[in-house]
Amino acid sequence: MKPIVLHGHERAITKIRYNKEGDLLFSSSKDNIPNVWYSVNGERLGTFNGHNGAIWSIDCNWDSTKVVTGGADNSMRIWDLQTGKEIANVLTNTAVRTVTFSYSGKLIYYTTDAVMKFPSENIVIDISCPSHLKGDDNVARFPSGQHKPTAALWGDLDRSLITGHINGSVSKWDLKMPNEKLISVDQHKKQINDMQFNSDETMILTASSDNTAKLFDADTLKHLKTYKTERPVNSAAISPIRDHVVLGGGQEAMQVTTTSAREGKFEARFYHLVFEEEFARVKGHFGPINSVAFHPDGKSYASGGEDGLVRIHTFDPSYFDFDFEY
Ligand SMILES: *[C@@H]1O[C@H](CO)[C@@H](O)[C@H](O)[C@H]1NC(C)=O
Repeated sequence: MKPIVLHGHERAITKIRYNKEGDLLFSSSKDNIPNVWYSVNGERLGTFNGHNGAIWSIDCNWDSTKVVTGGADNSMRIWDLQTGKEIANVLTNTAVRTVTFSYSGKLIYYTTDAVMKFPSENIVIDISCPSHLKGDDNVARFPSGQHKPTAALWGDLDRSLITGHINGSVSKWDLKMPNEKLISVDQHKKQINDMQFNSDETMILTASSDNTAKLFDADTLKHLKTYKTERPVNSAAISPIRDHVVLGGGQEAMQVTTTSAREGKFEARFYHLVFEEEFARVKGHFGPINSVAFHPDGKSYASGGEDGLVRIHTFDPSYFDFDFEY
């Protein structure tokens, strides 16, 4: 694998995400300025300027016309992808932890942190309503309970919301009856750091600080598989074309030894989706990996690290020949 290394951020990468076609790669960081890149050559297409704090989450809508970001400056912002201009700045009481476009791109679901008198909340807005973009109204707004969401997804073609919490539980809510939790499962022992669908959205992969990633049925949240490591898992993704998952993580920044950091020893780990067995590692980052994503064509994947770098790895032909013996 010959990686392309993207040098555009001054601080830790918090999230990377491909658009639907995979020609663009978005990166958010603690440095306040989200970037968008051409995934084929790593050239930077542009930046989104305006936030005044760490960005925790970024997403692009299905037709690649709009980008949404949320972060520590208590705002959720919508951007025009073509021009890079800010379309809306929705102010919140506390930091925005997760933000995601609905499947149709009409709605945005975001979650906020709890601070002092402000509870952690789940909020859904319709981006065609001016009052929603001012933060005055919404489609749904409900408290997320004692333990804040740290990862969130739309489910069932925009009919439900799926939240992963700081206490490790994963819950599903019906958008029409948002005060009633549909399902909740407690398979993880620590914080959920990331949740991603497989390509047909029938399964969800969770990444947790309890050193595991787990596969769930997206409909029932039935637990299916577990991928074990010795380190907190910050992010995990499912290949769109092979029965593979990739896990990124690492120890807390404080515990990183200078040698392992200097040598770029932080590894993405590949597991077989069904057999739960690790079969490959890819080195390169100089600190824990915070976010991983497969290109929608499955021929490459990207990782974003605590070292502020984004690495795009194209798989060797041998990757496609390799098979587990059944
Ligand atoms: C985890 O937190 C959520 C949200 O506050 C709550 O609904 C769930 O019951 C909690 N799970 C456990 C095991 O405490």
